[in-house]
Amino acid sequence: MTNAIFESVSATRPDRLQLASPATAADTGVSPDVTGFYDEATGSVQYVVADPVTRKSAIIDPVLDFDPRSGSTRTTSADRLLKHIEAHGLTLEWILDTHPHADHFSATGYLKDMTGASTGIGERVVEMQRLWKAFYNLPDSVPVDGSQWDRLFADGERFTVGEMEVRVLLSPGHTLSSVTYVMGNAAFVHDTLFMPDSGTARADFPGGDARQLWRTIQRILQLPSDTRHACWESTVAAQRAHNLHVKNCDESKFVKLRTERDRRLPMPALMLSALQVNLAGGRLPPPESDGRRYLKIPLNAFPYASWGGSEPGLKK
Ligand SMILES: [Fe+2]
Repeated sequence: MTNAIFESVSATRPDRLQLASPATAADTGVSPDVTGFYDEATGSVQYVVADPVTRKSAIIDPVLDFDPRSGSTRTTSADRLLKHIEAHGLTLEWILDTHPHADHFSATGYLKDMTGASTGIGERVVEMQRLWKAFYNLPDSVPVDGSQWDRLFADGERFTVGEMEVRVLLSPGHTLSSVTYVMGNAAFVHDTLFMPDSGTARADFPGGDARQLWRTIQRILQLPSDTRHACWESTVAAQRAHNLHVKNCDESKFVKLRTERDRRLPMPALMLSALQVNLAGGRLPPPESDGRRYLKIPLNAFPYASWGGSEPGLKK
C-alpha cells in the first residue's frame, strides 16, 4: 500500500504553506487529477481535483483576491480556476474549505454564486464562528450555525466527487475546525505539515492548539507511504524522516517548540480582515445604508500578538 503527500508550498513564504497529500490508493483505488494554483500575493495554493473517470471535480481552498491598501477585491484567482475547469471539460461538484484561513479571503461564496456547486467545511466551524462573533461584536442577525455552507462535515464522514469517495478527517491544531479531505490516493491536509524543511503550521490563533496539532500530524503520518513527486508534494515517508519539527520529536518537545516559535510570529497581516469573510462562507459583509460593504477591525483585542516578537522579554 502506498501513500503520498502533496503540499501546497510557497518557496518564498514558507509560513503560508498548505499541505495537500495524495494519500491512500487503498481508499478507492482512484488517482485523481490534481492541479495546484499558487497565489503569489498570499503564498497560498488552491486546488482543482478531478475524478479521472467521470470528470467531476472539486475546488479546494479558493482565494478571493484582496488588496489591503485600497480595500478592493477582485476575482482573478477564482476565475482562473473556473477557466481551468472549462478548458479541461470538467464539471464542478464541490467547493471545499479545509478551514477558515487567516492569510487570504475565501472565494467560496463567489464560486457558489457562479456555478451553483455545493460548498462544504468541517462542522466545528460553528465553534469558530461563535468565537469570532464575540471578537467582532457582530449582531445576533449574523448566523453562527454554519448555514453559510451547504454541508458541514463530521470526522469520518464520506461523500463523493463523481465516483470518487472522499473521506473527511478532523485535523485540529492549526485551527479547531480544520479538516483533511482524502480523495482516492490524494489527501488535502491544509495548514498542518509544510514541506519537510519548513516544518509545521502555527497553532497560536484563537482555537489553535499545539498539542492537538501534534496529534493531527501523527494521524496524518499514519497514512501509508507513497512516492509521488510533484509541485507542492511530499510523501508521508519524507515527512516522517525529514520534517524539521516532527523528526526525532515527541509530543511534549513539539508543543514546546511550536509554542515558543508561535510567540515570536507576527499575526498574519490579513487575519482580522479575512476571518470576517471566511467565517461567512467566503462572503463579504452585507452592504450598509450607502450600499457599501465594510470590514471591522477590533482594536486591542490581541494586545501582543500583532507585535510579533516586539513584546518586551521576547527573544527573536
Ligand atoms: Fe491556515
